[in-house]
Amino acid sequence: MVLTRDRLAADLRRLGVQSGDLLMIHSSLRSLGHVVGGAPTVVDALLEILGPTGTLVGPSFNYETALDPTFVFDPLNTPSDMGAIADEIRRRAGNHRSRHLTHSLSAIGPQAETIVTAGGPTAWAADDPLGTIFKLSGRFLLLGVTYQTFTACHVLEVAFRLHHRKLDTLRRRLRQPNGRLVTIQNTVYLRDVNYPGYDFNRLGQDMEDAGITAVAPVGNAIARLVPAQPMRGFATPRVKRDPDYLLQQGSEVTPLTRGVILTLPDGVLSVVDPEATFQPSRL
Ligand SMILES: CC(C)(COP(=O)(O)OP(=O)(O)OC[C@H]1O[C@@H](n2cnc3c(N)ncnc32)[C@H](O)[C@@H]1OP(=O)(O)O)[C@@H](O)C(=O)NCCC(=O)NCCS
Repeated sequence: MVLTRDRLAADLRRLGVQSGDLLMIHSSLRSLGHVVGGAPTVVDALLEILGPTGTLVGPSFNYETALDPTFVFDPLNTPSDMGAIADEIRRRAGNHRSRHLTHSLSAIGPQAETIVTAGGPTAWAADDPLGTIFKLSGRFLLLGVTYQTFTACHVLEVAFRLHHRKLDTLRRRLRQPNGRLVTIQNTVYLRDVNYPGYDFNRLGQDMEDAGITAVAPVGNAIARLVPAQPMRGFATPRVKRDPDYLLQQGSEVTPLTRGVILTLPDGVLSVVDPEATFQPSRL
């Protein structure tokens, strides 16, 4: 499928993305089909819909590169490792990027500053940038990816005090806008040795079945639009009943009823037609 900006915008509107939304995205560009203009076109389409009162947030995570003790976090230049669309948002957001060494967010729009400057030195606590998206009643867009990439579920893990994570601190250098380097310290949540892995697909599928999450194709991808506050309200009684609700139960995570899941060496994509994902060799 060949996708123009207008076609993308029409599909995103049909899914339910609206003017004035606070929207955080996790994405796979390849799952959409062949997008004319690539990642910038997707970001243009999203910003066009959100309009001047809407805010777009992308994950600018770089947790692999931050493992290197010599790593210097440069908010203006350290790329996002969360895909081409996330990195395009990071580039356009400029200095509106939170100062977390591994899990920063980049944001564009009137609520950008509130989000990226929120909270203390952690990533998933209620008063951090991601937790602030809950407070501001934002929504999450999963574009061609499964719930296993849905970082907001980690906020729930922390809120529910699930015991399979241990806190650690990470100290690395940060490049300030004036070029000077300072050492900063962040909290990171490591997996406990007994941690079985998470199954966020379970919560996701249950919310789809309950009609809380909108699901629709965007180009060739299956897209999911999840409202933050209803998600917390939905998860709370279920985690109280079953503290393992967000954890993987067996060798597989919960299958999703919408989309064909492709597990590739470099990513897990949720698409309508696997044959129509972008493959440069076919051009
Ligand atoms: C890992 C992940 C990003 C891989 O998805 P992807 O679609 O293969 O990669 P990107 O989104 O970076 O898009 C780049 C790919 O799109 C394809 N592409 C290039 N131009 C394109 C175009 N014009 N139109 C469509 N696809 C195009 C190419 O295959 C390209 O890969 P290449 O640069 O290696 O050739 C995705 O599976 C994922 O997990 N996304 C969510 C990440 C996240 O937010 N995680 C949260 C914490 S776990």
